[in-house]
Amino acid sequence: MIPVTKPFLPPKAEYDKYLQGIWERNWLTNNGPLVNELELRLKEYLHVNHLLFVSNGTIALQIAIKALELQGEIITTPFSYVATTSSIVWEGCTPVYVDILPGQLTIDPAKIEAAITPLTSAILATHVYGIPCDVEAIAEIAKKHRLKVIYDGAHAFGVKIKGKSIFDYGDISTCSFHATKVFHTIEGGAVFTKDPELLKKMAYLRNFGHDGFEKFQGVGINAKNSEFHAAMGLVNIPYLPQILARREEQCQLYRELLTDLNGSFLYTSNIEAYSHSYFPILFEDEAALLRSMKLLSDNGIGARRYFYPGLNTLDYTSGCTPVSDQIAARVLCLPLYHSLTAEEQRMITRLLLRVQNNPPVSVNVNS
Ligand SMILES: Cc1ncc(COP(=O)(O)O)c(C=O)c1O
Repeated sequence: MIPVTKPFLPPKAEYDKYLQGIWERNWLTNNGPLVNELELRLKEYLHVNHLLFVSNGTIALQIAIKALELQGEIITTPFSYVATTSSIVWEGCTPVYVDILPGQLTIDPAKIEAAITPLTSAILATHVYGIPCDVEAIAEIAKKHRLKVIYDGAHAFGVKIKGKSIFDYGDISTCSFHATKVFHTIEGGAVFTKDPELLKKMAYLRNFGHDGFEKFQGVGINAKNSEFHAAMGLVNIPYLPQILARREEQCQLYRELLTDLNGSFLYTSNIEAYSHSYFPILFEDEAALLRSMKLLSDNGIGARRYFYPGLNTLDYTSGCTPVSDQIAARVLCLPLYHSLTAEEQRMITRLLLRVQNNPPVSVNVNS
């Protein structure tokens, strides 16, 4: 079985060393020394001013929405993981979908203004697959219409724009450190902002609103993360150059092996410090995708339809976004993780080329 993703695990002895310290201190959670150390090390690694380590990337989005006191409508992308939309709805706001750019798959800034109404309070866009949104165009629109901007950077760990961290953009950026991400803390995530006041507010929100033991600042939640999770992050940081280099190599090999495939890949070579979070293929149509997915699955290979269905088509959403609908119907992510071997990649690509060269007579795309 080759899954679509697998967590990176460092040598166990390195994690054990941190466990020893946790046992000695008997301090497991609540802003412990390892959480503080991780925040410091990540600030250095990413070259950002401020960040807060939280329990996952979804709560990071919810805290961002809460901290900015957003209400009414939030303009967002239909092409992302469900958490981007569910966080908006969970916080009592309405997602308004703006279509994506066909090449970059991020929100199309030229279509944002037409979606702004008197109820619009913010833009929440995703750097999907780690591809940067057009942050300059979005900043201009936000300024003109006095909107807040949140970036969901769950896939964009380490990505830069003009030498600056991608997390420096927008009022708040978020990231996920889930076990399957390029950098992980088993479960985890972060909020980033350049605004110290906003940071302070989010620090209260993360810890029930506690301002000391007996005073509270607003309605908070429990978004803290533990010493065990921080320890995994601390052990993983030194492996990042190796992890990123390997993913880059693996993506390059996929591209080479699939030159004869009737599909397209994302153009990412212009992205600074790209995260190589996923390897998506855009098939010529959904039938070709389903044929490939079935053959891979029959051979124990777990390719996944990231991101499908479009978020505008959920039970609790609506929106007309033809470009995103088209992309979501045709995109398939191939296995990509640190321990994936070149031989396994060759097997995957051989199957993809085989199904392309021997298509069945008919396929029911609805089955
Ligand atoms: C775009 C995007 N946003 C948010 C999340 C949620 O992150 P988490 O799983 O850490 O809650 C994910 C998770 O994969 C994601 O892909």
